[in-house]
Amino acid sequence: PENNPHVPKRTTVKALVESPALTSIPSNYSYTRYPNESDASDPDEKIPTIDFSLLTSRDPLQRSKVIQDLNKACQDWGFFMLVNHGVPESLLKAVLDGCKEFFNLPMEEKMKFADKDIWKPIRFGTGVDVKVEKFFTWRDFLKVFVHPQFHFLNEPKGFSEVSGEYCKRTREVARELLLAISEALGLEENYIEKAMDLESGFQLFAANLYPRCPQPELVMGIPAHTDHGLLTFLIENEIGGLQIEHNGKWFRVNPLPNSFLVNTADHLQVLSNGKYKSIRHRAVVNNKDTRISIAVPHGPSLDTVVSPAPKLVESESHPAAYMPMKYKDYLNLQLDGKPCLDHNQLTFT
Ligand code: SIN
Ligand code: FE2
Repeated sequence: PENNPHVPKRTTVKALVESPALTSIPSNYSYTRYPNESDASDPDEKIPTIDFSLLTSRDPLQRSKVIQDLNKACQDWGFFMLVNHGVPESLLKAVLDGCKEFFNLPMEEKMKFADKDIWKPIRFGTGVDVKVEKFFTWRDFLKVFVHPQFHFLNEPKGFSEVSGEYCKRTREVARELLLAISEALGLEENYIEKAMDLESGFQLFAANLYPRCPQPELVMGIPAHTDHGLLTFLIENEIGGLQIEHNGKWFRVNPLPNSFLVNTADHLQVLSNGKYKSIRHRAVVNNKDTRISIAVPHGPSLDTVVSPAPKLVESESHPAAYMPMKYKDYLNLQLDGKPCLDHNQLTFT
């Protein structure tokens, strides 16, 4: 644990930034970008927008049009902005404010939750595991298991209540969206709901703090990765910094206020037998403002064995591209730094 940045023994990125006269980054935070990791977004391209209210509309024509759009968004981008989702703006703001207050707690308070055990339901940390990445990343985080059992902190006051409400509301939206995605894949409307046991689906609340940085070009907030689970919902304060891989380039996302940025994740790639890809993304930081984001992955239940939907497998032309794996086992591998969805193959490493 001495060298493990999951256990921030002496400092967090926040404390580091607030220490007087920090003008350059400590060298262990330095991140060497891979040659293909230059920023380059095509200004003419636009991330798709999906209007959630049309999905729940009574007009079947409108619904089938949105399902087509959803299919295209999942295939072409793996990311889309969800608008008119019905979750109140005041709730989004309250949960972001709650995170801000949490990160503002005294370091000793947050450190009570510092743990390297990925199965601790409430976990505070900074950086990434040195087993995977040799540098520290410019990020502090809080991860809480919120479903099927709701865990939360008692501090700051009211944070648990707003987060509980936020997680419940986003879960409802995610399940509705997954009905439509089932249809978009040509499956029964409730195929994903049933096969992934969403009644007991695993939901995680992950809040990220990216303090302003004196040398933002030298660090990385979160390095390129894909998400486990089916769909991740992301909200953020209005700073920007997320980049997604699109047609081999890094595309900068500027989310519409009050929208959810939704991405298709690893287990939707498996379930769809590769039709929908789990897209790599990363977060960069800046030297002006502190960014806060909240990523909420919605997954199958932990005991679900995920495999390609039989209807999407053709033994001759399109065989199963992934082997069945229990979600819990996948998390053990991935969170231990062994990404198992590699080159479109689900393999044990
Ligand atoms: C994440 O991928 O978990 C966070 C991305 C972000 O902060 O935008
Ligand atoms: Fe992510």
